[in-house]
Amino acid sequence: TVRWVIVPAAGVGRRMGSDVPKQYLPLAGRCVLSTTLARLHEAWPQAQQLVCLSSQDAYFDSGMLPDGINWLRIDGGAERADSVWAGLVALEGHANPQDWVAVHDVARPCVRPQELQAMAAALQGDPVGGLLAVPASDTMKRACAGQNQVAHTESRVDLWHALTPQLFRYGVLRQAMHGAYQRAEVQGRSIAETITDEASAVEALGLSPRLVVGRRDNLKITHPEDLALAEQIIAAQQD
Ligand code: C5P
Repeated sequence: TVRWVIVPAAGVGRRMGSDVPKQYLPLAGRCVLSTTLARLHEAWPQAQQLVCLSSQDAYFDSGMLPDGINWLRIDGGAERADSVWAGLVALEGHANPQDWVAVHDVARPCVRPQELQAMAAALQGDPVGGLLAVPASDTMKRACAGQNQVAHTESRVDLWHALTPQLFRYGVLRQAMHGAYQRAEVQGRSIAETITDEASAVEALGLSPRLVVGRRDNLKITHPEDLALAEQIIAAQQD
């Protein structure tokens, strides 16, 4: 069973073009953050949710939390990875290396509780973990470096879109993220340039995360039009 859930929610969502961070925009009668946390809680009511918020956050209200949730507020960092790392550090001395830790972006409120449970069941017994993902269906173009000019077409066979949750054993993920920070320092790159998700950190350990087929409607709210789409998706899910 999933014991810990880290919810990176410390972003400001610049691409939304809104003053209010996207996790606080209204969705399905509440807000994005409230919807996401409720779905995680429905799937894994026994888990503790570590909600990573900006220390500058002026919008969070505990009334946004689902009833009965076991949660902890964590100070997020400058990048998504820093927020996840803050959650992992907070688990030190509490989580066992074998415990499952799910990382789920607050910006993905359309994930279904059944999908979360099915993912955990699919990974049960796995020594490493994996992530929800969907096979690429668009034709993929590789551009010439930094230009809007096609260099060639990538085969989309065996290409997947990585979604969240990403679900890993605590010990594996902690070691992987620690390694990513060390690499970033050695290479003089930022953590955001070094890894873009938890799985990429785990891959760098030479491990192969499992791809669990997710649903295309588990969209990440990034641009303004995504909110209306999420509204429709959630309405359709309740039919
Ligand atoms: O902006 P983007 O959608 O890529 O962010 C992905 C997730 O990471 C969001 O849930 C966002 O709140 C979170 N995040 C964070 N800390 C940051 C930046 C983003 O927790 N510094």
